[in-house]
Amino acid sequence: MKKRILSGAQPSGQLHIGNYFGMIERMIRFQSESDLFCFVANYHSMTSINDKAELEDNTRQAFIDLLALGIDPDKSTFWVQSHVPEVTELAWILSNFASVGLMQRSTSYKDKISNGLKPNMGLFSYPILMASDILLFQSEMVPVGKDQKQHLEMTRDIAIKFNNTFGEIFTIPDIEINESNDVVIGIDNQKMSKSYNNTIPIFASNDIIKDQVMNIVTDSAGLNDPKDQDTPLFKIYSLFLDDVSKKELSDRYNTPGLKYMDIKKELIETIISFFESQKLKREKLVLDNDEVTKKMILGQTKAKEIAQKTLQEVKSATGLI
Ligand code: ADP
Ligand code: TRP
Repeated sequence: MKKRILSGAQPSGQLHIGNYFGMIERMIRFQSESDLFCFVANYHSMTSINDKAELEDNTRQAFIDLLALGIDPDKSTFWVQSHVPEVTELAWILSNFASVGLMQRSTSYKDKISNGLKPNMGLFSYPILMASDILLFQSEMVPVGKDQKQHLEMTRDIAIKFNNTFGEIFTIPDIEINESNDVVIGIDNQKMSKSYNNTIPIFASNDIIKDQVMNIVTDSAGLNDPKDQDTPLFKIYSLFLDDVSKKELSDRYNTPGLKYMDIKKELIETIISFFESQKLKREKLVLDNDEVTKKMILGQTKAKEIAQKTLQEVKSATGLI
């Protein structure tokens, strides 16, 4: 039996290379060797988006982006979260197994509040909805970036408590963090994130990609000094290189005469050609509404079948008749 792997992406703005190397690339690889479940987390985005058109548009765009990047609805189960509303029913049930103290320790909640999000119950119980996403589909493994690790620990905690009370209903998921690219650095050397305006967006125009690469901060090392490799330009470029090319780049950094401008020009070319075919695929999908809707319905049908089965087991175990 193939391993069931699940992950979700919030449709909260343009996807960037941090999302790609932190999560999407691995999901695409997983879909050939495992039973991949992947969804656009639009309920979660309500914690930051309160505009109808924006939520609708972002959700569709995110679905298209992931299709273009290689999520294949025939090989995987790929849907929009709100198309399977069973997840909110399970979230309510699970909330009775999530202690307030556990939720209060959420670093992501604290970070979001300090970044100006309103401390409402949606934001507070965000990890419970996430636990529901994972447990509803009996996921065995969840690949995410390091920032999501605590949410997954909470999921395991909730599932263990539930199972201890009602029997082995839920699969306890393993956490999969990509250790080599656990946090992709942005152009300013902080974590790359939409909220910090320091991203390289995957599907932006070539001009925007150029501008963002040109804006990568560099130090003032002299032309003939060896260059520091613990810097955003080196780290971002390395994401696109195999071990041999990375070693070559490292040697160039240690050799006098290296100009950051040359490296930036190469990086621009590398990024543009790396995503070229995905960009073309995306342009076609944007024009084909029916095809996109068809793929959404396929995902919904596949996901609903499993969601309903789990929910039924949960309801009958708990006494919800
Ligand atoms: P953002 O921080 O830009 O809002 P999201 O929170 O929507 O990104 O993240 C979507 C997915 O991409 C998550 O699994 C997250 O862990 C991963 N991810 C986001 N930014 C990075 C990053 N800089 N490095 C590694 N993974 C990331
Ligand atoms: N919270 C995740 C993020 O911000 C998105 C997400 C929602 C998710 N539900 C999930 C990821 C379930 C993995 C599994 O990136």
